[in-house]
Amino acid sequence: MIRTLLVGLGTRGRHWARVIAENTGSSLVAGVDPSLDAMQTLQEKLPQLEFPHLTDLEAALKQFKPDAVVLSTPPSVHLEQITACAKRGIPVLCEKPLALDAATARVCVDVAEQAGIHLCVGMNFRYLETTIKSRELIVGGKLGTVGFGRINYWRYRDGKRPLLNKYPLTMDQPMLLEQSIHHLDLARFIYNSEVKRIWGRTTNPPWSMYASDATVAAWLEFENGVELQYFGTWMGTNSKNEFQWRTDGEKGMLFQRDIFAGLEYWASGTSTPEEIPLKPQEDFVDDTRGLLEDFLCAVRGEPSTYPSGRDHLMTMALTLACAESSKQGKTLDLLEYAKQMGLA
Ligand SMILES: NC(=O)c1ccc[n+]([C@@H]2O[C@H](COP(=O)([O-])OP(=O)(O)OC[C@H]3O[C@@H](n4cnc5c(N)ncnc54)[C@H](O)[C@@H]3O)[C@@H](O)[C@H]2O)c1
Repeated sequence: MIRTLLVGLGTRGRHWARVIAENTGSSLVAGVDPSLDAMQTLQEKLPQLEFPHLTDLEAALKQFKPDAVVLSTPPSVHLEQITACAKRGIPVLCEKPLALDAATARVCVDVAEQAGIHLCVGMNFRYLETTIKSRELIVGGKLGTVGFGRINYWRYRDGKRPLLNKYPLTMDQPMLLEQSIHHLDLARFIYNSEVKRIWGRTTNPPWSMYASDATVAAWLEFENGVELQYFGTWMGTNSKNEFQWRTDGEKGMLFQRDIFAGLEYWASGTSTPEEIPLKPQEDFVDDTRGLLEDFLCAVRGEPSTYPSGRDHLMTMALTLACAESSKQGKTLDLLEYAKQMGLA
């Protein structure tokens, strides 16, 4: 049984508390959060879970000596918390983004690697059924050579809604660093290739409730030749949310109709789709279960493909390059940018 400490008991922490407690190979030894309100809300929403609550990470590490730590805290405190765990040789699963800037993200990874601990990043969308099947089909050659794709994510995210994290309202590049980072990571993962060149443009519509850009457009050229058009926003004008991901290849096209479900394959020249069977999943929970299980495998010394901190640096490079491209108004060579920023 892997005794796991959960740090950060907010919106995302409530998923984690359930997923850790329900995993047959782990136990939730304690939760850490300076906010008594956060703990109270968790208790109200998940009354079946009982675990001690502390307000200080150092005290919790000393008292419980956990085998693993899950950090579900805002990115601004990840480095300090990863360092505290690394000093004690404790493996960490840290929510995304690892950090808000390149230098801090790199130090997070250096600290973990120097201490020889596993550092896994919260790229739970890699464990969605839609992702697993899409990657299997594309990498397995069902589409033949892939030419181009498009991701369209259109959402009205009410950042002032109670029980939703508030720091995105005031942070720099909230859409990119909190949301598009998942999409960009999935594009690297599903197309199984790094990005060669990126053009990005980030903007904020006049009606935005976010202080910084809530809309991201990008054009990505992958090393394997795939071209991807991306558009994502948190500030659609109403709650008619949309998510589609279309990828076209020489033998056929893959179309994802929604964010967590609905995948169809259209063979070249046909006018009816083949529905790809997907196992039912509870959104944000089953994908998180998959991520946790993969991390626990690594902690037990078993084979694992968890998204590592080192791998996340390339997703961070892509995300930050998007903002930089927008600032400079030009296309960037990603590897060159990543090297300049110390991310590759
Ligand atoms: N992977 C996903 O699908 C997903 C979804 C939502 C959020 N997230 C990520 O999870 C992280 C947390 O987001 P959230 O929505 O739960 O935010 P939140 O604001 O709802 O919760 C964060 C909690 O961390 C606590 N906290 C702050 N500083 C702390 C410290 N030093 N020690 C312990 N606790 C501390 C806060 O009191 C708060 O309760 C962020 O990095 C966010 O990007 C990931």
